[in-house]
Amino acid sequence: MTVHIGAKPDDIAETVLMPGDPYRAKWAAETFLDDAKLVNEVRGMLGFTGTWKGNRVTIQGSGMGMPSLSIYANELMMEYNAQTLIRIGSCGGMQPHVGIRDVIIAMTATTITSPSSGIFKEVNFAPCADWSLLNAAVNAAASKGSKTHVGGIYSSDVFYAERPDLDEQMVRHGILGVEMEAAELYMLAARHKRRALAVLTVSDHLQTGEALPSEDREKTFGDMVEIALEAAFA
Ligand code: HPA
Repeated sequence: MTVHIGAKPDDIAETVLMPGDPYRAKWAAETFLDDAKLVNEVRGMLGFTGTWKGNRVTIQGSGMGMPSLSIYANELMMEYNAQTLIRIGSCGGMQPHVGIRDVIIAMTATTITSPSSGIFKEVNFAPCADWSLLNAAVNAAASKGSKTHVGGIYSSDVFYAERPDLDEQMVRHGILGVEMEAAELYMLAARHKRRALAVLTVSDHLQTGEALPSEDREKTFGDMVEIALEAAFA
């Protein structure tokens, strides 16, 4: 048990998928894992462990934003020995060629500030994905026929942004989408020598204002879970 995770030491698998929403963790565990059992419900941040094609997997909610993710990812890495951590979540599209429902596999995650900013001080550390996971996820997405983009994303610490000039610079520099967690996950993985990746579905678009209808969210989320699982065990 840790401060925020009630699981017993052996309850957490070495491979952990991390959706922001704890109910998505429940849905994904019930849909894709065999013998899924609830291993955490502290603060309602549900976590489940089961098997996928015989491989042990935990699906643990991260909550929204880097400070929340940082709590769960730190405890999973330092107290439970999680080795492979894959964020599965949604993002806002930032480029005209990126459409709603497309999959973004985040090679890098730019940020202005994250819970790790304090230790990097003047260094603009470049948070990047684990290459083996990235490569495997690209192959898995291709075999599913998902429309996929691979490149940089922006991890913001605000959903209700008040700086349109920042979004403009991100768009200008080719950033594919915006979400709120990946950069810190990549920094923690670098620090603790673990493998990390973020696989995202475009749920809304900052330029067109389009948004994914709620009935479509499950299917696109499902594709993402499968891409993450295939990448983890490739
Ligand atoms: N901003 C930040 N995070 C997000 C967004 C967004 O527009 N869409 C989905 N996650």
